[in-house]
Parts: sequence; C-alpha cells; structure tokens
Amino acid sequence: MADRPGGTSVTPPTGHTLAFTRSSDQDDLPHATKRYQYIHQGALIATYADSANRKMADHLRKFETMFTLTPQRMRMIVEAFKDALETGLAKRDQVVPMIPTYVFGWPTGKETGNYLAVDLGGTNLRVCLVTLQGDGKFEITQSKYRLSEEQKQDDGQLLFDFCAECLKAFIDLNIESGVIENDAVLPLGFTFSYPCSQDRIDHGELIRWTKGFGAPNTEGHDVVAMFRKSLEKLSVPAEVVALTCDTTGTLIASHYVNPKTKIACIFGTGCNAAYMEYVRDIPKLTALNIDPNAEIAINCEWGAFDSFEHEHLPRTKYDLVIDETSNKPGEQAFEKLISGRYLGEILRLIICELIDEGVIFLGQNTYKVEIPYSFDTAFLSLMESDPTDELLMIIGIFTHFFALETTLAERQFFRALAKLVGRRAARLSACGIAAIVSKMGYLEEGCAVGADGSLYNKYPGFADRVHEGLQDIFGEKGRNIVTYHAEDGSGIGSAIVAAMTKIRKEANLYNDL
Ligand code: BGC
Repeated sequence: MADRPGGTSVTPPTGHTLAFTRSSDQDDLPHATKRYQYIHQGALIATYADSANRKMADHLRKFETMFTLTPQRMRMIVEAFKDALETGLAKRDQVVPMIPTYVFGWPTGKETGNYLAVDLGGTNLRVCLVTLQGDGKFEITQSKYRLSEEQKQDDGQLLFDFCAECLKAFIDLNIESGVIENDAVLPLGFTFSYPCSQDRIDHGELIRWTKGFGAPNTEGHDVVAMFRKSLEKLSVPAEVVALTCDTTGTLIASHYVNPKTKIACIFGTGCNAAYMEYVRDIPKLTALNIDPNAEIAINCEWGAFDSFEHEHLPRTKYDLVIDETSNKPGEQAFEKLISGRYLGEILRLIICELIDEGVIFLGQNTYKVEIPYSFDTAFLSLMESDPTDELLMIIGIFTHFFALETTLAERQFFRALAKLVGRRAARLSACGIAAIVSKMGYLEEGCAVGADGSLYNKYPGFADRVHEGLQDIFGEKGRNIVTYHAEDGSGIGSAIVAAMTKIRKEANLYNDL
C-alpha cells in the first residue's frame, strides 16, 4: 500500500500501524479524499474511508455557527456601538475615546504649498513631500523605510530618532535634486496612527500602543514633543504643525477630492474611523468656548470598542486566545476581531486545534504552522481569491511556507474557514460604520465612506461584504451608504491638515488649539 506522498506511517500505542493513502484530490467536501487503514499483523482490519472529511464537514458546520453574525445580532451591536460613541463624546477617558482632533471643518480644495508628511502607522515608516496645487490637485514624492520588530519594542525616543533620521535623509536627497530649497524649513504633518489624547493640534499623549507596538517610555507622553526633540537633535529643517492619525487624514484627503465623503475608515493592520462632528454635540469640549456650530473631525479610535468588559462582541475561544496572549490583553477588542494583524492568527489557531484533534495533517511535521503569527492575513486573501479548481495557490501556501501537503478537500475546507473569518470581520466593520451613520442621521441622504488599508484594498470581497452587512442592518436603505477606495490619508491628508492648520492660525482662529 502506498503511503501519502511525503507522509509516514505512524504506530499508535495499540501496536496497530496507521498508514494512510491519498485518494483522488478531485473529491469535494464532504466526500472522501483520505483513507485510514489499520493494518494488524499484516492484515487489513478496517478502512475508515471518509472519516476525516466527515469530521471536516462537521467542523465546518460548527465554525459557521460560531463565526456567522445574524442581522439581528448586528443591529444589537450597532446600538451598543452608538452608545459607546456618545459616551466618548460626553466624557474624557472613555473606552472609545472619540478624540477631537482640532481639525476644524472640511478643506476648501484651495489649500496650496509644500508640506512634509511623516507617517508612522504600522509596518512601514513613510516620509513624503506633498505639493498641494489647489483645486483638489497635488503631487507627492515619498520614501518608505521598513520598521523592524525590535524597533517597535525598543525605547520610544529611539523610534522618534529613527523617524528624524529618515526624514533628514529624505530632505537631503530632495535638496540635492533641487526639489526642496536649501534653507527652507518646511511645515510638517505628523501622522501617528495610535490613540493619542489631544489638547491641541500639535500635541498628543499616547493612550496606548496598538498593533503589536510596545516601545517603552512613550505611553502617557506627548509624542509631538518627543518627535520635536529628535528633530532638534539632528537639526532637521522641519516644523511639526499638526499631529494627525491615518483615519483623520483619510477623511480630509478623501473629502478634498470627493466632497460627498462624510466618514473615513482604515481596515489594515489596525482598524479605525473618523468623521466630522458639530462642537455642540461634543459635551466634553464645552469648557473650550468653541463656536457650537463649528465642526471638528473626530478620531473615534473604534478599535477599542467593547474592550475590558467584553459585553457586546461575539468572541470565540480563538479570539480569547489572541487577546490573552497579546501584549495588550483586554484592549482593542473590536480591532482584534477585524484587523489584518489578527485574521491570519485566528485561522492558524483553528488549524492548530484541528491538528491536535487529529483531523488534519496526520503524520506530517506541523511545527512551522504552530509558530504564533506565522499565518499571514495575506494568505487568507490569497486563499479566497485562488481561481483554480485544484486550489493551486493554497497548495503553494502550505507547501512553501509550512512544508505541509494538503488534499483538495482540506484546501476547500481552509478556504471555507478563511471566508468565515473574513466575512465576520467585514460584517463587524459594517456595524461600526452603521453606528456612525445612524448616530449622525446620514441614512436617508446617504453618504460616501472613504476606506483604505490592506484588508479593504486587497482582501477579495471585503467591500462587498461590508455593503451586504449594511443592507442587513438597514434594509434597502443600506444601499445609500457606499464605501470607496480613499485617497492617501497619511501622506496627502496629513499635508492638507498641516495646510488647514497654518491657514487657521494665520487667521487667528482658536490659536491655542
Ligand atoms: C490605531 C488607530 C489607527 C488604526 C488604523 C489602530 O490600531 O489605534 O489610531 O487609525 O489602527 O491604522
């Protein structure tokens, strides 16, 4: 009898030899693709054809129940979400902090000039030179620098020193090529995409690191002051005029080119949303005496929804493991169910459980897939978008990255799991959008939602699933809410925010904010 290619026979304690052959890869779930044959003293005792696939089919049904959100459940989440948004606007230091960004109102599209933008947000550090040309037009030159895992955990000031070094190198290069004038000190928008409580636009105390960052001596500190210190140390000719985050930048940049935009979302390594709120509806700002009819962009930091108490979101045992083993247990509860940093890990934990239960990869060496965070969320995208009948892409992922052989039935099973995890993320994202829409009363007139981030841009069907979720929540009217691929918020958006701030300060409007 032939062994499974690359596989082995194993001898369980009973003394029986458990060998397996691989049957046709063409079979569909729940038909057989794998047969187990017990051989005792050379005699074939029993054949358990179909057993593994039956198990997979049973598991799939279980996972479907676990990961599916009914419209009714979604509506309950939306209600709780709306309450959290209101509470965050009413009082300081709430779970969903609803941060007033001191970006007052929308850009006019007439903003002009040269601005630097530094974007520290997740995987990369990006520095940009943005030329705003007015009429919603712009030009951008940029460089990207990879951040190492060590840098994310190293002392915070060193991280800002690195930002300053990269910016200096970028400026020098652009001076050499004549793009930046030699003695210019350019205004800079600093996109720092982690929750910071702000008292004014060029200040922000880091509430907590997210997305796996953990650099000590940064939480509770003003990150603008820290960055300025690094800029001074290296004599970098740049003046930080505004601190912003990727969602606020996305809101502003998207509105610059599409004035129908009212909400911006990021679905990437982390997740978050921003929108424009009337000052009269932000009770915690009352003491500042700002015109109640003025508008101010709110950085929701919605990734924190349902943190600590865990009352509203449907968390599976895999989500609990992710939370408990993260560097920030209890925090970013919503983000941990949705964002690109975690989706691959959710699937990996399911796979590991099925390995332990002997449902998949029997007799294969599974150590590679047992490494935490080894299963990239990009694999889920690739698995879902594999166009071949044989699911060749999935074969490639498992053989190349994990040295594992798969049957077609297993690959179909994994693809179905990826779909469940991805679909839940999109439907939960729809709940967040629906909460803002419903709170602001945008449903009737409709609105555009500028969205960005790797999940939104690269995960097949993510946007469609968000739209489907919005219709499940709102019925037909849900069609009035349309997401679209947003403008680059962390580069262009940050520059526009810097420009708006300069204009506001030159006009002596809320000068100390
Ligand atoms: C951060 C937000 C950010 C989002 C998307 C979250 O982890 O807290 O500030 O907007 O990720 O990058």
